[in-house]
Amino acid sequence: MRQKIIIGNWKMHKTMKETTDFLTEFEKKINNKTFNCQFGIASSFTNLIALKNKQVKNLIVAAQNCHDQLQGAFTGEVSINMLEELNVSHVIIGHSERRQYFNETNESINRKLKTIFNNSKMIPILCCGETLVQYERKTTDQVIETQIKLALRDISGKNVAKLIIAYEPIWAIGTGKTASVAEAQNICALIRTIIAKLYQKEIANKVRIQYGGSVKPENIKTFLAQPDIDGALVGSASLQVTDFINLLH
Ligand code: 13P
Repeated sequence: MRQKIIIGNWKMHKTMKETTDFLTEFEKKINNKTFNCQFGIASSFTNLIALKNKQVKNLIVAAQNCHDQLQGAFTGEVSINMLEELNVSHVIIGHSERRQYFNETNESINRKLKTIFNNSKMIPILCCGETLVQYERKTTDQVIETQIKLALRDISGKNVAKLIIAYEPIWAIGTGKTASVAEAQNICALIRTIIAKLYQKEIANKVRIQYGGSVKPENIKTFLAQPDIDGALVGSASLQVTDFINLLH
């Protein structure tokens, strides 16, 4: 059975102080309550130290990006060794905002995944998703297949089994629009089929697949009830403590 995993992607929100305040309020509000799902926060690099200093029980600490080299003359970049030292166990790779604004490609995403798997214990959260134009042209299936195939090129089945994939239709991110539950389930099932074809069914059955795009406390349950949706990657609804708690179960 795949355990559900809910990750809040804070994007470029919150200072160190706001992060610490969030964690204090979170601990107070949950009051030692435990959840069946795994849960975590992907914060900007500067807040990772706050998440390390104020360790919240069972909270996964994730980064939003990393470089594909371990060190070197890459001004402004952060390596996986730097992240691991800050207790970062998960890292988002290939978010659509990074593809759109920072020229990330399926090839650079593939290099990052290889570096992570070959040099760390971190678990990548690989993002994929189609634009509105691609959705309207009904080319979602092909877009997703290409993204997954190229991102996973030359990555072993053993590593793929550890992967988390987040399906985030770009037109549903920050727009208040969500894919219908049936659409989200169909694409997550398609991703599993693609993995089964590239590797084996047993590996596909291990990969966890999240849905992301305007997920909120009010709609998360219906997504999580789908057989191929194993969690959610949540942007704006993860920023307020009460909302974040209400996403967990
Ligand atoms: P929203 O939940 O704000 O739509 O953002 C989704 C997202 O991009 C998570 O990575």
